[in-house]
Amino acid sequence: MKIGTPIELTAGESRVAITPDSAKRLIKLGYEVIVESQAGHKAGFDDNLYTLEGVNIVHSAQDVWHQADIIAKVNPPSHEEINLLGSSKTLISFVYPSERKDILDFGQTHNLTILAMDMVPRISRAQKMDALSSMANIAGYRAVIEAGNSFGRFFTGQVTAAGKSPPARVLVIGAGVAGLSAIGTAVSLGAIVEAFDVRPEVAEQIESMGASFLFLDFEEDASGTGGYAKPSSPEFREKQLELFGGAAKDVDIVITTALIPNVGAPKLWMADMVQSMKPGSVIVDLAAEKGGNCELTQPDQKIVTPNGVTIIGYTNFPSRMATQSSLLYATNIFHLLNDLTPEKNGIPEINLEDDVIRGATVTHDGTITYPPPPPKIQAIAQKPATRKPTMTPEEMRETERIAFRKHTRQQIIILALGGGVTFLIGLWAPESFLQHFVVFVLSCFIGYQVIWNVSHSLHTPLMAITNAISGIIIIGALLQIGSLNVSVLILAVISVFIATINIVGGFYVTRRMLAMFQRS
Ligand code: NAI
Repeated sequence: MKIGTPIELTAGESRVAITPDSAKRLIKLGYEVIVESQAGHKAGFDDNLYTLEGVNIVHSAQDVWHQADIIAKVNPPSHEEINLLGSSKTLISFVYPSERKDILDFGQTHNLTILAMDMVPRISRAQKMDALSSMANIAGYRAVIEAGNSFGRFFTGQVTAAGKSPPARVLVIGAGVAGLSAIGTAVSLGAIVEAFDVRPEVAEQIESMGASFLFLDFEEDASGTGGYAKPSSPEFREKQLELFGGAAKDVDIVITTALIPNVGAPKLWMADMVQSMKPGSVIVDLAAEKGGNCELTQPDQKIVTPNGVTIIGYTNFPSRMATQSSLLYATNIFHLLNDLTPEKNGIPEINLEDDVIRGATVTHDGTITYPPPPPKIQAIAQKPATRKPTMTPEEMRETERIAFRKHTRQQIIILALGGGVTFLIGLWAPESFLQHFVVFVLSCFIGYQVIWNVSHSLHTPLMAITNAISGIIIIGALLQIGSLNVSVLILAVISVFIATINIVGGFYVTRRMLAMFQRS
């Protein structure tokens, strides 16, 4: 089948849905690819780059809409565009189906299959197709860069012969994908970053990125389903505004990203807070396209208030980094098509039993399939809350103390039991056996402690160590393999076999991990 992409018509849009690299991969999947001439130009991909990868360049958008069986786009199609779509075709694009009933109706009457990139569920398996996250990641990064552009000082603190400048204080409200990306960028530039979110489970993520969690002493968990938040109670909101009101006079840059799906952006940074900020401060309102988190935000505008605060309400942050965002978006689309084409024969299969495909499909076979049932699998962002920010610091310390006591008690019981068993064996077993047995028990204990207490991020170096240990085991086993004692011989062969699996497996996994960081 033919996949095509036209030039995006939305004002200020520079992204393209198929890049030369993704086209090459789509062709390998068995598809033929056509691209409207100059579709990739603003993102830095000229026609000749596509041609080199075997793409057919066509000269008008009509050619794409008429010739292609599958249209891949970035923005939802306009009324004119959708009318160009013939019956029984497939459209892959951001759709925002709750706001674009016209697209759903058209899809139904024209028997279209419409896959909405914004409806891909946020579950681990779908991360590679999660275009909302890849775009939000870019938006968070770009928000900090735009803030820096309007902020007259350094992010990092400096002491030089010419003077001393304090580090910038950045407050990020909403620590979803965009918020976490903004936190990472601002921290790496040297700012002092604080962040707030209504979902308690993100407190650890915020802190692990080098920012501090702005603590609100209020008993409410606003975690919704699918890694999203649910609306907070009026009492909670009041407390939250009080907290932000107190912070407003100290912060230099505020980046707001708070969003509740299908409800919109809560108003969290009010006019009086803007009023109390220092001149030269900057607010970047990423939620501008959903109404804005700041009361004074004007969508698509950068304004400066009478007290000198810059408020940036651009709604096209990803498009401001069109090369990067096109590369990521096109890869998201490729992965979706890869899942849709298990036979690699250029013919997509819509398997509605698949959670991800079901979530993204908004019309199919003359039926509106939106909204989808909730995915059967938990969202990625939903980790068990290991720490409740709604606890007071004293309560937290008390909980930690109880957990520590419990752990110590367990260890004492295990040690006493182990000692008792060794003592009993020692009463009957020969002395040479006991010596080896003690070494064996200690090795098991150390091995257990070493492996279980190592954090996941250190598993690769750990693997290298276990490889070295396996090497020693193999040498020992080889020395015993000539033994005349049959049981020693069998044990030696088993040891060589198991240690070899460990070494080969270790190299294999390490190779795969390294490949993740290599360019293809
Ligand atoms: P997300 O859903 O992953 O994150 C939103 C976060 O806001 C969640 O962590 C949620 O718990 C938090 N939140 C909700 N209510 C809150 C409240 N009252 N106080 C504090 N936190 C609250 O969304 P994502 O993907 O990070 O996107 C964030 C925003 O950025 C959205 O509004 C999205 O539309 C916007 N966006 C804007 C772009 C632009 O160019 N302007 C581009 C991409 C995304």
